[in-house]
Amino acid sequence: MNRHGIDDPIAQRRRALGAMAAATGLALTGCATTSAARRSRSGAPEGGEEGGEAEVTPGEDLMQEHGVVERILLIYGETARRIEHGEAADGAVVRSAAEVFRRFVEDYHERTEEQAVFPRLEAARRELGLIATLRRQHQRGRELTDVIARLAGGASGGAAELAPVLRAFERMYRPHAAREDTVLFPAFREVVGRGAYRELGERFEAEEHARFGEHGFERTVAEVARLEAALGIDDLARFTAP
Ligand SMILES: [Fe+2]
Ligand SMILES: [Fe+2]
Repeated sequence: MNRHGIDDPIAQRRRALGAMAAATGLALTGCATTSAARRSRSGAPEGGEEGGEAEVTPGEDLMQEHGVVERILLIYGETARRIEHGEAADGAVVRSAAEVFRRFVEDYHERTEEQAVFPRLEAARRELGLIATLRRQHQRGRELTDVIARLAGGASGGAAELAPVLRAFERMYRPHAAREDTVLFPAFREVVGRGAYRELGERFEAEEHARFGEHGFERTVAEVARLEAALGIDDLARFTAP
């Protein structure tokens, strides 16, 4: 099962066709997606609109991806803290985290925002100032990821100059994602309308499967979890306040 609650290949194909139709504006007859063709995360066929597990909506999809962002920021923050305290940093872990950030966040999540979310809000003349800032921050983030990957790949494996870059990255992305979660995505949901919102969910899913395979999100989360384990910050209970 993947996070979209889909594991049935026929349903997937139908959904992909539906997504293509949505993307091209074509109407499919005879193979339209139906809830009866879909399966819930548990594998049991849905009983109808009210049956089975609900599908992931575009906003939920993007917010789950922000969870990956946050977990990479935890890796960056812990690395910066170690460098600031004169402890050894694991350059290979930071470099791998930067690679995941580039592949999953910059080249996929942010492209989705830039191509499917921002233009719809701009067309509706909504949140224009916010979107201009978010676009600038995407660009700045890509530049910083280049710097992080280069510094983390250096011979010292955690040069002192890496810490301020990681801190700047953290400082930018936490409010960036928080503003998208609380302002941008709710406005997006409002301007898109129910039917198109659902179709976009299918498009997002088809795009994710095409890029990363059916379990791409889950595999990415597992990859980040392995990096957390390498740093020794994978035990959530250790973060419980004393
Ligand atoms: Fe963004
Ligand atoms: Fe985002």
